[in-house]
Amino acid sequence: MISGRGSNMAALIQAVKTGRLDVEIVGVLSNKKEAKGLEIAQNAGLKTAHFDINHFDSKDAYEDAVVKQLQAWDTQWIALAGYMRIIGTPLLTAFRDRIVNIHPSLLPDFKGLNAQEQALKSGVKIAGCTVHLVDESLDGGPILKQASVPVLPDDTEATLSARILIEEHRIYTETLQEIVDNKH
Ligand code: GRF
Repeated sequence: MISGRGSNMAALIQAVKTGRLDVEIVGVLSNKKEAKGLEIAQNAGLKTAHFDINHFDSKDAYEDAVVKQLQAWDTQWIALAGYMRIIGTPLLTAFRDRIVNIHPSLLPDFKGLNAQEQALKSGVKIAGCTVHLVDESLDGGPILKQASVPVLPDDTEATLSARILIEEHRIYTETLQEIVDNKH
């Protein structure tokens, strides 16, 4: 599930293509029609769907529709890849302990939005990313894997984010394969 650029999603698609990730990506779902990642997914021959929460009476109604679509694709696991909405009860109930997320900080530090900017402002010398299971808490579910990168003296949000993103793509693929191999 995505909301934007979809570089983590693209990395997963590439990993499946090259045999490093033994899963079938049954579909890519976005809450934004204009998400760049949808185009990438379509070009890769994947099924896509988008649901605009504003077209529903409530967040639950929106998520009910999302769950229905995911079940129609026979989804077993959900990989959130830059999906910018907090996961609510319908999704958590339908996919309990089967939703993973990638977050651009060493959790539990710097939860929520703009994690890289939070890291820079705090003055930490080491930043990174985390793959974790999703539960009711914001970015607080069990941690599955982390990778760290140095924060360099002249870093901007863009340079630090780019350094972290390389590690995101690597550990997201690795963690999902470890899930397939029952290592989590
Ligand atoms: C990534 O930094 C991810 O950690 C965060 O949102 C960003 C999504 O980037 N959750 P992309 O859409 O995967 O390129």
